[in-house]
Amino acid sequence: MDVQRFEAAADPAAVRALHEIYRAGAPVDEPGGPPMSAAVFSGLLVRGWCAEPRDNWLARDGGTVLGGYSLELPDRENRDRAALMLLVAPERRRSGAGSALLRHALARADELGRGTVTSEVLDGTPGDAFARAMGARADLVENRRTLDLTAIPDGQLARLRAAALAHADGYTLTSWDGPTPDQWREPVARMNEAMADAPRGAGEQPQVWTADRVAEADRLSLEKGLRRYSLAAVAATGELAALTQLSVEEAEPAWGHQEMTAVARAHRGHRLGLLTKVAMLEWMADREPRLEYVETWNGEDNAHMVAINVALGFAKPHRVTAWLLPTRVPAASGPR
Ligand SMILES: CC(C)(COP(=O)(O)OP(=O)(O)OC[C@H]1O[C@@H](n2cnc3c(N)ncnc32)[C@H](O)[C@@H]1OP(=O)(O)O)[C@@H](O)C(=O)NCCC(=O)NCCS
Repeated sequence: MDVQRFEAAADPAAVRALHEIYRAGAPVDEPGGPPMSAAVFSGLLVRGWCAEPRDNWLARDGGTVLGGYSLELPDRENRDRAALMLLVAPERRRSGAGSALLRHALARADELGRGTVTSEVLDGTPGDAFARAMGARADLVENRRTLDLTAIPDGQLARLRAAALAHADGYTLTSWDGPTPDQWREPVARMNEAMADAPRGAGEQPQVWTADRVAEADRLSLEKGLRRYSLAAVAATGELAALTQLSVEEAEPAWGHQEMTAVARAHRGHRLGLLTKVAMLEWMADREPRLEYVETWNGEDNAHMVAINVALGFAKPHRVTAWLLPTRVPAASGPR
């Protein structure tokens, strides 16, 4: 097996080859959801979700691409770790390629100064069995849930909106699509930081946000062909009190991807999480008429957020485990 580094921005053929492998495995690796489109996958390999540097590698066997990996290397916080996406073509699995690529990735991450590699995997998939076999340590557990918009009973959203409004006196709703308007960038940065109150992995540092980082994340979203919608609650003082964001991939208009939902600490207890999410769904019925499903990920212990989502009808929880592996593994306990 020959493992070569590639520059995702300069080598679309390499990105395409890895995306084909990803898509071929998706029915078993990511059951119940749409696989990332080529545009999103490519954007991810080039600049990540948040402009984090990446290190991409392709594995060939006699000219045939059989897999590869991509390391995300956070450079603002969590500089001690790297997030790994490791892929082996379905027809080449169970013959040691994954273990060999993992060894390569661990050595590479170590060389780049990272002490830990992390990876999120749906429970019950080959990646789950692989992570266990490699001696990885389970960390944060999340649940992916899906809302079937076509199954929401008539009048349900109006009922939930009324129930939320009864606690939300003095707040107004506002929305924008695409990049964050100038006046909201700084407040949106603070909202992103409010996400630090959601459960996160052991030793994982919360992200530090600035108005520039917000603008950069917006740009990356656009570059990937994502239509991103933001719906906010504003307090009587003019302060941004709550924000929920959802994006839709150009290539998959039936699926919405829930991004952050956060309520500023001073404004919790007013049902603003529920209110903004209901308003988002009502808005989407207009703006994204082809939308049928929305998927969301929540930490298993995030009781308030989970309660809101269950009230909205999000169902079919599928556990996702974040796995951790030190890059320098004692010979006796590490991957083969
Ligand atoms: C996970 C993945 C990379 C494994 O690739 P692979 O080439 O099949 O891995 P290996 O052949 O080196 O497997 C090593 C060991 O992992 C375990 N394992 C891997 N896949 C398994 C499966 N489907 N069922 C049970 N055990 C499995 C086994 O113990 C295996 O050893 P064995 O074959 O001698 O029993 C591959 O399934 C994949 O691309 N999955 C999708 C992406 C993913 O989940 N990546 C992992 C996290 S980044």
